[in-house]
Amino acid sequence: MNFDRLSVQSPKRDRQARTGWEGFFPYYAGYPETFARKIIESSDLKAGSLIFDPWNGSGTTTFAAAQLGFKAIGLDLNPVMVIVSRARILPFSEADALQPLSRAILASADYSICADSSDPLLNWFDRNATNTIRAIERSVCEQLVGTLTISQNGINLDKLSSIAAAFYVALFAVCRDLTRSFQSSNPTWLKLAKAGERRISLRRSSIERRFQQHIDEMANVLSGKLVEAARDCFPAEIMLADSTSSTLPKESVDFILTSPPYCTRIDYTAATRVELAVIAPLVEENIIELGRNMIGSTRVPKREIQFEKSWGPTCKRFLHQVKSHPSKASGGYYLRTHLDYFDKLARSIDAIVEVLQPSGAAILVVQDSFYKEVHNDLPTIAGEIAAGRGLVLKRRDDFYFRRSMSGINKNSRTYGRKPGAVESVLCFQK
Ligand SMILES: C[S@@+](CC[C@H](N)C(=O)[O-])C[C@H]1O[C@@H](n2cnc3c(N)ncnc32)[C@H](O)[C@@H]1O
Repeated sequence: MNFDRLSVQSPKRDRQARTGWEGFFPYYAGYPETFARKIIESSDLKAGSLIFDPWNGSGTTTFAAAQLGFKAIGLDLNPVMVIVSRARILPFSEADALQPLSRAILASADYSICADSSDPLLNWFDRNATNTIRAIERSVCEQLVGTLTISQNGINLDKLSSIAAAFYVALFAVCRDLTRSFQSSNPTWLKLAKAGERRISLRRSSIERRFQQHIDEMANVLSGKLVEAARDCFPAEIMLADSTSSTLPKESVDFILTSPPYCTRIDYTAATRVELAVIAPLVEENIIELGRNMIGSTRVPKREIQFEKSWGPTCKRFLHQVKSHPSKASGGYYLRTHLDYFDKLARSIDAIVEVLQPSGAAILVVQDSFYKEVHNDLPTIAGEIAAGRGLVLKRRDDFYFRRSMSGINKNSRTYGRKPGAVESVLCFQK
């Protein structure tokens, strides 16, 4: 691959980009579709090549790859993101099916069944609103989730159809809009209602209307794309899986385009709390364990993790600075959560190297951050971890952003550090 010819645009999220399909699930952690498309288009990949994203999030890579006619596989550990990215690859030609299906779903929703008293939707909604949302969710499941997809442990997300996923995303959008008052300025955190706090109360007809509106908008967006695009999206595979272990056959992947989770102690499950509540009956997932397994988890790892030499000198220096920082818990909790991050990142890069074919390319979008005033040069650390595992850095493009995930922390100014962050696009070859 000619790395000089790659078209590397800024991976900065366009906060105005709230239209089109991305508008149904604006993901704070995603890069723009054009960023992914330009890189893939300029990569000279042969027809039939396989593009992989081990941290697929809202599915920008898999969508762009599938649109350009490549085979694509994406994985994510958060079941919500698996549903969101599966919906994104819904063939444009399904536009006509959405509205009649949603009418059938609403017509057959059984509102006489009371939601369980432990239903997590009750964290935000009153009983009536919870009953309505749950009845619609049950109806989506009954109408669109085939028996093959349902197992003893809930639903096999790997088999969920894109059309079923699209209806779940419409319900996510309804709940997300309604819980706006529980959102803070931090896009990664949705608050729960406190004991005694008033829950959201809404008529059934109003919830149904909102659901129908989202489906109407989806149908509109899809039919627009059908007219615009030369062809429908190629099918892509989206899986619920952990990036730290290899899921694909050895050397089966031609190209990787991905962005690892931020190292700013973001609980990726907290941002999707209401969506996880919507799908609670479908996934036998323990949310605490899910949060623990995420890269960047805020939970203390269960096992003791030691620094490994193969993580490189920059990581070693950074961990030393964290450990010896005078502030409370730096040498304890914070050191352990950082060790957990680098351990999971290194194991994921091991898995990436294993599935990538010889001379295959891996593009990683990595953002730097801070621990207190200590710079966490994650792009350099990721580069050193990758180099220790046989990847050669061929090109690095840095983009400076004024707004960043680490700047969200209210204390960031008190440490006197420079605002913003550098997001680096690291291009490796195996
Ligand atoms: C920075 S986001 C990726 C965003 C994506 N590029 C997009 O455009 O939407 C990182 C993703 O990694 C996922 N993740 C965190 N830990 C993971 C793990 N151990 N295995 C797989 N995915 C994980 C998170 O759920 C999150 O969606």
